[in-house]
Amino acid sequence: MQEQLRRQFAELFGQGEEPRHFFAPGRVNLIGEHTDYNGGHVFPCALSLGTYALVRKRKDTKIKLFSTNFDTEGMIETSTTNLRFTPEHQWANYPLGVVKIFQDYKLEIKQGFDVLFCGNIPNGAGLSSSASIELVTAVLLNHLYDLQLEMMEMVKMCQRAENEFIGVSCGIMDQFAIGFGKKDHALLLDCETLRYTYSPIALEQVTLVIANSNKRRGLADSKYNERRFECRSALEQLQAVIHIHSLGDVSPQEFEKYKHLIQNETNRRRAEHAVYENQRTIEAVEKLQAGDLHGFGHLMNESHRSLRDLYEVTGAELDALVQAAWAQEGVLGSRMTGAGFGGCTVSLVESDKVESFIQDVGKVYRQASGLEAAFYRVEIGDGARELLQD
Ligand code: GLA
Repeated sequence: MQEQLRRQFAELFGQGEEPRHFFAPGRVNLIGEHTDYNGGHVFPCALSLGTYALVRKRKDTKIKLFSTNFDTEGMIETSTTNLRFTPEHQWANYPLGVVKIFQDYKLEIKQGFDVLFCGNIPNGAGLSSSASIELVTAVLLNHLYDLQLEMMEMVKMCQRAENEFIGVSCGIMDQFAIGFGKKDHALLLDCETLRYTYSPIALEQVTLVIANSNKRRGLADSKYNERRFECRSALEQLQAVIHIHSLGDVSPQEFEKYKHLIQNETNRRRAEHAVYENQRTIEAVEKLQAGDLHGFGHLMNESHRSLRDLYEVTGAELDALVQAAWAQEGVLGSRMTGAGFGGCTVSLVESDKVESFIQDVGKVYRQASGLEAAFYRVEIGDGARELLQD
């Protein structure tokens, strides 16, 4: 594939110095949903699927971008001296947002570059194709302009690019998982302190399976921002009485004692999800480390129920996919993953039952929704990096 991209790069941008190759993965979150911006824990891993980028510096200030995923949009052209969000630039706003944030941090990017992107993460499926293109851009800028940035700084700047340039108030989970991902490991991240530890996912008898509902995540951004706002209101009411910085600081016992302070019933349910989901994430990782896969799967199921009933971010399609998985023999756990409102589920399935899982769940889902699901066996890969050529 890299050879083919190299040829395409030469066709698009002409012969010259060899382009450098970079890669950033997508991510799947195993448990800990809508907890990151609430100062709680998350437990994602990086995928072997992701975004490739081939890049070469230019002598002038032009930036030329092309994506094989959006080839009908053609070449997008702009300049390092003129970066602002431009609707016509569509997908290219994600990498350009990263360049702009780097410049805002006074990092010197004056000369432009030619870049070809190619991703194999399904777009808009909740596997973080956007954070993936952000991180691959950050890492290529770091190498190309010799900026000497640490991964932590790049992760934070990519989150800022999405918050400020794109206008989506996402938390830090996606950028973090993509920056710090490690092959065959998931990472438990405390989103309040940004402390993290890796947990080996050496699953032999069981397989993680992603199912894409193929329901596009319509309205996701506005609903996402609405949930953030609801949690903030709940937090402020609790803060009037208890000394906490985020909902992640609240234990379930404390929550039960003080929840009456949250006047709005909807906001109370949102906060209840954030508090209990954080607790579940910590417990789930303990279960996994103790080899209790059934216990881990049970908490995945609880997580889905809470996202469905308390946080209300699942929707008919994701519920149908998860219901079908729960009814299937050999399934230890199944839940929606990512922001919700469409996108993917992740299931823990006994390895010798994966084929029948794909057949049967696909069929039940087709009957329930009229949509065709796509299935992927999860391969956990490394984080964003340069791919060295021989
Ligand atoms: C999206 C956001 C993340 C996180 C998840 C929900 O993926 O980008 O920051 O909030 O939703 O857990």
